[in-house]
Amino acid sequence: MDKLQITGGRPLEGEVRISGAKNASLPILAGAMLAEGPVTISNVPHLQDVTTMIGLLGRMGVSVTINERMGVEVDAGGVTECFAPYDMVKTMRASILVLGPLLARFGKADVSLPGGCAIGARPVNIHVAGLQAMGADIRIENGYIKARAERLKGVRLVLDTVTVTGTENLMMAATLADGETVIENAAREPEVVDLANFLIAMGAKIQGAGTDRIVIQGVKSLHGCEYTVLPDRIEAGTYLVAGAITGGIVRVKSACPSHLDAVLLKLQAAGATVGQGDDWIEVDMRGRRPLAIDVRTAPYPAFPTDMQAQFAALNCVADGVGTIIETVFENRFMHLLEMRRMGAEIRLEGNTAIIKGVSRLTAAPVMATDLRASASLVLAGLVAEGRTEIERIYHIDRGYESIEEKFASLGAQIRRVPN
Ligand code: EPU
Repeated sequence: MDKLQITGGRPLEGEVRISGAKNASLPILAGAMLAEGPVTISNVPHLQDVTTMIGLLGRMGVSVTINERMGVEVDAGGVTECFAPYDMVKTMRASILVLGPLLARFGKADVSLPGGCAIGARPVNIHVAGLQAMGADIRIENGYIKARAERLKGVRLVLDTVTVTGTENLMMAATLADGETVIENAAREPEVVDLANFLIAMGAKIQGAGTDRIVIQGVKSLHGCEYTVLPDRIEAGTYLVAGAITGGIVRVKSACPSHLDAVLLKLQAAGATVGQGDDWIEVDMRGRRPLAIDVRTAPYPAFPTDMQAQFAALNCVADGVGTIIETVFENRFMHLLEMRRMGAEIRLEGNTAIIKGVSRLTAAPVMATDLRASASLVLAGLVAEGRTEIERIYHIDRGYESIEEKFASLGAQIRRVPN
C-alpha cells in the first residue's frame, strides 16, 4: 500500500484547477439508470469512488464507456440484475444511491445495507422509510434491503434529518412515480441541485432544488442527455486552506465561489485576503500566521462537515484558541488524535474540539482514517517540521484527483512511495 511523504515548511504559491465534484458525480452516475437512452456526463473526476460506482453499474449490466473527450457514456438499456452486493457497498457507502433509480425504473432493487463507517453510524432509515411511504414493499433480509414496487406513488415526505444522499435517492425515485412528491426538510447542498438539473435535462419535472422543499411531478419515462458535473467545492476549499495554513497564496480555478460562502468567511476570519471572480478564488496569507477560528458544522449553506478536518489543521498552528463543533457525524475527530502526535494541543469534549495553536507541528508517521481526515493530515504535514509519512492513503484517492501532482504544482514537497 502506498504512503505519502510530505516535507513541510514551504508556503504554497500558484494556481490549481478544480475537478468535477465527487459527491455530484456519484448520484448522477446512479441517476443515469433512470434514462431510456444513453447519457453522456462530462467533468467526472478520475477517482476511486467513481471507479467503484462505474464497476457497480457495469456489474448490473449497465454499459459504461469513456468517449474521446473523456465524457462518461452510460446506457442502462441492458440491465440484467438489480443488485448491489455487500463487497461493493462496504467499500463505498454511496452505492446506496442505486436504490432509488433501480426501484423507480425496474421495480426492484436488492442493495446491501452499508453498515457503520469510520465517521459515524450513518443509517439509511430515511431512504428506506421514504420509499416505503411511496408504496414500495421493503424487507431487510440477510443484511440486504430488498425493495419491490409496481410503480411508486407520489406522496408528501417530511425527512426526520437533513440527509444529502437520502434526499437524492428519494428525488430520483420520485421522477418516475405516479403523481406529485413533495420532499420537506430536503438537503440544500449544491450537489443535490446539480443532480436535480441533470434529472431535469433528462425530462424530469422538479422544482425547489436548493431549498428545503423539493416538488417532483412524476413522468412516465426519462430520456438521455448530455450533462457537465459542477466543480468540487470541498476540493477547492482544501487547496484554499493549504494556501492559508502555509502562509502562501493559492488560486483555485474552474471553481464555483458561491458554493463556498461559509468556508470563505472562515478564511477571512483567519486573517486571509480572499479574492474571487466568476470561476476562481484566491487566498493570500503571505507573511502572516493564521488566527484561530471557531467552526460549527451543519448542513448547507452552513459550514460543511467535509471541511471540518482541514480547518482543525489550520487551528493547530493558528494564533489563539479555536473551537470546532461537529454536529453532522458523531465520530469525525479521528484526525485530531493523529495531529496530537504531531504536537498539536487539542482538548476533546464530546463533539467539541478545543484547539490551542502551537507555533509549529513536528513531522510524524500518521494514519489516514477517512477521506477528509487524510486531506487534513496532508495540510498538517505541509506545516510540520521534518518529513511526515501518511499511511492508508487509499482514502485520499477516493476523493482527491491527482493530489500529489496538484500540491507539487503549488510548490509542496510531496511524493507517493510504495510501503
Ligand atoms: N442520517 C440518518 N438516517 C438516514 C440518513 C442520514 O440518521 O437515513 C444521518 C447521518 O447519520 C448523519 C446525518 O444524517 O448524521 C447526515 O448524513 P447525510 O445522509 O447527509 O450524509 P450522506 O448523504 O451519507 C453525504 C456525502 C458526505 C458528506 C455528507 C454530509 C455523498 C456521497 N456523501 O453523505 O461526503 O459528509 O453528505 O454533507 O454525497 C465525503 O465526501 O468525504 C463525505 C463523507
